[in-house]
Amino acid sequence: MTEQNGRVALITGATSGIGLAVARVLGSARHKVFIGARNAENVAETVKQLQSEGIEADGTTLDVRSTDSARAFVQAAVDRFGTVDILVNNAGRSGGGVTADIAEELWDDVIDTNLNSVFRLTNAVLNTGGLRHKEWGRIINIASTAGKQGVVLGAPYSASKHGVVGFTKALGNELAPTGITVNAVCPGYVETPMAQRVRAGYAAAYDATEEAILEKFQAKIPLGRYSTPEEVAGLVGYLASDPAASITSQALNVCGGLGNF
Ligand SMILES: NC(=O)c1ccc[n+]([C@@H]2O[C@H](COP(=O)([O-])OP(=O)(O)OC[C@H]3O[C@@H](n4cnc5c(N)ncnc54)[C@H](OP(=O)(O)O)[C@@H]3O)[C@@H](O)[C@H]2O)c1
Repeated sequence: MTEQNGRVALITGATSGIGLAVARVLGSARHKVFIGARNAENVAETVKQLQSEGIEADGTTLDVRSTDSARAFVQAAVDRFGTVDILVNNAGRSGGGVTADIAEELWDDVIDTNLNSVFRLTNAVLNTGGLRHKEWGRIINIASTAGKQGVVLGAPYSASKHGVVGFTKALGNELAPTGITVNAVCPGYVETPMAQRVRAGYAAAYDATEEAILEKFQAKIPLGRYSTPEEVAGLVGYLASDPAASITSQALNVCGGLGNF
């Protein structure tokens, strides 16, 4: 494929936060964006919103914890727009606590949502989505700086995101000769509904106010503030472009200096 625009891009978890910003960036680059999340109403509303902004968008419900759902999602995208060129594995959840008290169900759900999903969707896009037969492709996984350093009271989350970084490096090397790049984007603190839930969780754990937790987190960031979803999406947009062809198997931070690695 030689044309730079009009590619088919799948984005998981694009009804909120970073995923929504990614859908806007890829859609503004005139790619066809197909989005998925669990809440059907939010998917329909987001599709309508993106279309009203002039973006060629569609979507359907998706639970990244289910292989059947992943395959049906990719098939629906192929039926609507054709075979897949770009996959952004963005859907994810927070989750943690005092490790000795973490229930196995929570551990399993965080790993399933954040890590197993990335394999599941990638596998479905390579096969059902036809990507394995292409000479150009982009797989971009939204990991986290927590995928490079340990986060206190975040063992399942940190483990899942380290797994995403490892998967990215291995698959990037595997697919490098094919023209398909595989990279991870590692946000630090980004102001989204998830970030609000995380602050509420730490406020409860430390018996502090959410404002105090916000100040504590901001003090750790050299830039002094949270990143925005648009700043994260900007890097995703670049990685999806043709000039990014030689960037593969990387895990790149968007974190205001929080991570120095
Ligand atoms: N915000 C941060 O500070 C931060 C920092 C580092 C990394 N990240 C990562 O960035 C990604 C996006 O985070 P965000 O802050 O934008 O979160 P968010 O605002 O909570 O949005 C999460 C999105 O994922 C969807 N989702 C959740 N579970 C899903 C499932 N099982 N199947 C399909 N879709 C699912 C949600 O929709 P439904 O609930 O309707 O399914 C929603 O669209 C996540 O992977 C997160 O770990 C975020």
